[in-house]
Amino acid sequence: MHVVSFLGSPRKKGNTAALLDAVLKGIQSGGCSAGEYIFLQESNIQPCKGCNTCKKNEDRMCIVQDDMQGIYRMIGRSDLIILATPIYWWSVTAQMKVLIDRLYGMNFKCGTKKVLLLMTYEGALPNSGPETTEMLFREICEYLKMEVAGVMGVCTGTIPVQENEQALKEGFELGKKLAG
Ligand SMILES: Cc1cc2nc3c(=O)[nH]c(=O)nc-3n(C[C@H](O)[C@H](O)[C@H](O)COP(=O)(O)O)c2cc1C
Repeated sequence: MHVVSFLGSPRKKGNTAALLDAVLKGIQSGGCSAGEYIFLQESNIQPCKGCNTCKKNEDRMCIVQDDMQGIYRMIGRSDLIILATPIYWWSVTAQMKVLIDRLYGMNFKCGTKKVLLLMTYEGALPNSGPETTEMLFREICEYLKMEVAGVMGVCTGTIPVQENEQALKEGFELGKKLAG
């Protein structure tokens, strides 16, 4: 199984990174490689220009020449894509949204790929931020014909993920299950 992970938090060692790390450790414990890891904050990904070149010509990918060209190739060879984001204003971060918008230019079949959504958020449940984000994630997966591998959200309002043993264990087990 080939894995590619995207960290959408601007904080390299924050809550979302800790949750993603736990899942990747679980994947490794299941005998798979943690694969490729993209810290979106340090990636050069321009916003979609809406030029629709990718839709006008089936054999053309997105024409914007930036880090997405390599990311399209990574996604192309992946079996599992992990999107890890904090909730910002009831949605994904700007860094993650730019990536998602550019997936529009991905002209290849995605039917066998699975996608996992990891979220952290401050407000205790019920909190419409993670709920809304899960909903948009499921719609996007359906549009892209990718299978939802899972959704995991962790509230960081009282305890950071790094100290939340239950969340770390749950993330680890989820990764292990996905590897198996
Ligand atoms: C700009 C900004 C907007 C946020 N918006 C929300 C929100 O709408 N709902 C929520 O529950 N938490 C919100 N939070 C809190 C973060 O989601 C939370 O602290 C998260 O765990 C941070 O992840 P990180 O440590 O990986 O950066 C926001 C934080 C920031 C900085």
